[in-house]
Amino acid sequence: MVAVEVCVGNSCHMKGSKRITDRLRQLAAEYGLSDEIKINGVLCMDECMNGACVRLEGRVFKLSPETADEFFMSEILPRAGKSGPSGAPE
Ligand code: FES
Repeated sequence: MVAVEVCVGNSCHMKGSKRITDRLRQLAAEYGLSDEIKINGVLCMDECMNGACVRLEGRVFKLSPETADEFFMSEILPRAGKSGPSGAPE
């Protein structure tokens, strides 16, 4: 199980956290990993100055909707037992 927490506080919401959440969930579904990857909204992480915050295994990443795909490929997929684009859905 890969647990991804996306901040839904006001600042991160303004920086696209809803779009990031939607995109990460869409990618998880496309890879057939919706049961393996859990993406949940959480309250402010006190990192508001740095962009939309996403926490994975205790580490906070700063994302935008434009970097959500890259984050999924490089950080989430390997933890879900898949590796990069070679594991792309057909
Ligand atoms: S609103 Fe997201 S870290 Fe504060």
